[in-house]
Amino acid sequence: MFQPVKIAPSILSANFMDLRADIAAIERAGAGMVHVDVMDGHFVPNLTMGVPLLKQLSKATDLPMDVHLMIANPLEQIPWFVDAGADSITVHAEALGVDELVRAVALIRQSGCRAAASVKPGTPVEVLLPVLADLDMVLIMSVEPGFSGQSYIRGSEGKVAQVVAAARALGCAPLIQVDGGIGVETAPLVAAAGADVLVCGNAVFAAEDPGAALRAVAEAADAARRDALAAAGE
Ligand code: DX5
Ligand code: ZN
Repeated sequence: MFQPVKIAPSILSANFMDLRADIAAIERAGAGMVHVDVMDGHFVPNLTMGVPLLKQLSKATDLPMDVHLMIANPLEQIPWFVDAGADSITVHAEALGVDELVRAVALIRQSGCRAAASVKPGTPVEVLLPVLADLDMVLIMSVEPGFSGQSYIRGSEGKVAQVVAAARALGCAPLIQVDGGIGVETAPLVAAAGADVLVCGNAVFAAEDPGAALRAVAEAADAARRDALAAAGE
């Protein structure tokens, strides 16, 4: 059955001097959640935002806070982000051994948040199999994590299709999120492959009218999703 995609604008590309206006614009345009990119300068070369900002942001909007942890020690810091108002927390498989990944997912869920796990472009989706049935969402990175404004890595939609197939085989249905270089040109590729949630940084916040840009991406993705469902006879 057709379900519209959710757009998760990444505030990494927003205007930090006028965040309230940018949040209001994406609320009005129908954003599904706010994507918060946390980078620690270790797991990725960049350093961005953390607990103090999330605390204020989560109080300033009813949109769910989708926290993407690009940090080396997520097990230690998950509770900080839970307390600061996260609704979903994504950890990277590359930052954790298998046992730690299992513990991190359990910790997030026990804390009342939705749990997600991510793979970088060079990491096979198979590393997520030990936790796939326990995940609320899988995040496929379509750029190397670290910076907004990069170009979508062609072929990333293949990993989306792999996760859809793996989840089906296991009898689970986590949301599938894609992050990196998503805009009107690339959204249809991943939506047709089965993506449910699209992170957009520059495509939304670098646009003159962020709300209109958000809706344009959502419309392009939804059209591709309808076509793919029709082609599959669903
Ligand atoms: C990259 C971040 C992304 C990024 C998205 O490491 O996880 O969320 O900011 O920005 P765009 O959409 O501009 O690639
Ligand atoms: Zn992100």
